[in-house]
Amino acid sequence: MTDIENNENLIAEIERLKKNLDVTIVAHYYQRDEIFNIADITGDSLELAKRTAETNSKFIIFCGVTFMGESVKVLNPEKRVLMPKTACCAMAQMISGDYFDKSIAILEQNGINKNDLLPITYINSSAEVKGRVGEMGGLVCTSSNAHKIITHGLASGKKILFVPDRCLGQNIAHQMGLKSSVVSIFDGDKKNNEYLNSDIICYDGFCSVHQLFSIDDINFYREKFNNIKIAVHPECDPSVVNNADFVGSTSQLIKYVNSLPIDQPVAVGTEYNLVNRMREKNTYVLSSTKPQCPTMNETTLYDLYKTLKSIEDGEPFYEINVDQESSKWAKIALERMLNIN
Ligand code: 13P
Ligand code: SF4
Repeated sequence: MTDIENNENLIAEIERLKKNLDVTIVAHYYQRDEIFNIADITGDSLELAKRTAETNSKFIIFCGVTFMGESVKVLNPEKRVLMPKTACCAMAQMISGDYFDKSIAILEQNGINKNDLLPITYINSSAEVKGRVGEMGGLVCTSSNAHKIITHGLASGKKILFVPDRCLGQNIAHQMGLKSSVVSIFDGDKKNNEYLNSDIICYDGFCSVHQLFSIDDINFYREKFNNIKIAVHPECDPSVVNNADFVGSTSQLIKYVNSLPIDQPVAVGTEYNLVNRMREKNTYVLSSTKPQCPTMNETTLYDLYKTLKSIEDGEPFYEINVDQESSKWAKIALERMLNIN
């Protein structure tokens, strides 16, 4: 039997199970095409969190990374959320509850009162970190609403502690003409006067995939096509974002590329699977390497099939559960964001 036949059989089985079970399949744009095409709901992080909440299905199969499945579970505790692969986001892994506490302690040592800080966490963080943020009165943002949420946060008159993505925090600070600095838990007792003068203090996390895009890649494409547009995700380094024509979340990048005339060349700086799906336009990947998110790419059709089958067999596996304390505060932090949207 060829691979294609194998895939065809798998797809037929997945379709049969989907029809017979009380289940919704959700996939982020960075998933492989075969997963993306068979999903019931696709979108960027914010859309997935919102649209999944609107479904009535008992089971959600989330094809993405763990923080996404956790966010769905936290917002919909009555739903059973399964992930075909327990895939982690490299950026979300860079901060834990302890590292969050340590960052606050470093800022306190530098003369900043904890009560004068409003924490905002990018949705790419664990439920534990979202819980810490919620408990301190803070909230969540995604790449599509970060500007709005930070504007809202600044109205409190407090400094923003933005975790875990240094690039997203600094990019928004730059857009808003605000001062920013970076807190690293590896700085130890080193004094840093920049914190006191900053409106936004960013934790030193980053996305290993979006770090692959560089100013050299932009220069390369600008030399090759004098009219090319450069569109990038805000997880890219500020040097890249500051030289792009458009910055936006995955959904916003799709809308931007679709809005361009068919013959307009555009180089896009985000994950490969998504950019590759834009090929019917005059689209290039803004990199000399293949910028794939390794863990997003883990989920295969066979994994999805096995997860559906486990529900049919009455023994669902890879279920997402979040401890009660984190869940309580993470839900508050997520709902604060959704209420602003
Ligand atoms: P979006 O919210 O833009 O989909 O981004 C999620 C993500 O992980 C990007 O790396
Ligand atoms: Fe996380 Fe980066 Fe992968 Fe997005 S692309 S899920 S930020 S590792």
